[in-house]
Amino acid sequence: MTSWPYWARPAAPYSTAQPELMSSEPQVRVFPSTEELFRAAAETFCRIGSEAIRQRERFTVALSGGSTPRSLHQQLATTFSSQLPWDQVFFFWGDERHVPPDFPESNFRMAKETLLSKFPVPADHVLRMPGELPDANQAAGLYEQTLREFFHLAPGQFPRFDFVLLGIGGDGHTASLFPGTKALEEKQHLVAGNWVEQHSTWRITVTYPVLNNAANVMFLVEGSGKAGIVSKALKDPSANLPCQRVRPENGNLMWYMDQTAGAGL
Ligand code: 6PG
Repeated sequence: MTSWPYWARPAAPYSTAQPELMSSEPQVRVFPSTEELFRAAAETFCRIGSEAIRQRERFTVALSGGSTPRSLHQQLATTFSSQLPWDQVFFFWGDERHVPPDFPESNFRMAKETLLSKFPVPADHVLRMPGELPDANQAAGLYEQTLREFFHLAPGQFPRFDFVLLGIGGDGHTASLFPGTKALEEKQHLVAGNWVEQHSTWRITVTYPVLNNAANVMFLVEGSGKAGIVSKALKDPSANLPCQRVRPENGNLMWYMDQTAGAGL
């Protein structure tokens, strides 16, 4: 019997049960194939989005970068394209590289190419991080202002995204919260410029208070290359990985993966 840390108890291997909305326990779901993984992730995204729109007439999403989201975007843009009123979705980012929006490494560019260009999303519903600014800290400050204005935040308040999509890197980073970087300790600001020594680059990232104030957070993980870090993240609380500090105080935490990524569980 696997000894799960209290916060990573699985719903059930190959669980077919639909995660409860606002469940207090993290949901770990392992799917037999990548096809089933991304279909289930799209289905959950749309179910949460429909509920948010039913309740508040809008769905606020923080997208992730990297390559894994491409397959989710592909599902949303095809099989699930009619499942949401896309003009009521507001797109934000959990992190961005310190580059202009048309650079190949841009998380915004990846989302635009694979998702946002597929729907008539109003321009003012796409609120990207200004990675083109020479000073990453200035970019972070501007984005923080954008969030404060959009969510009408009073000082000391944090935005509550309906859905935050996250990936996990081989070192256990998530968003642009990398091991040993300054942004890991940020408790006041919503967004931080973050120097990542291991990649000799600046990043812009939301901070843990934002991630942990979300209504739904989904880690989406694919491939055997992630099996080791997923096993460590979900079974070794002493690993002290950045991804392990994502624990929504009053929201759903979901780990969705294919069985190769979940091989170590
Ligand atoms: C980024 C992401 C980052 C990503 C992981 C996993 O800007 O790169 O936000 O946190 O999610 O590095 O990336 P892959 O999906 O490419 O494995």
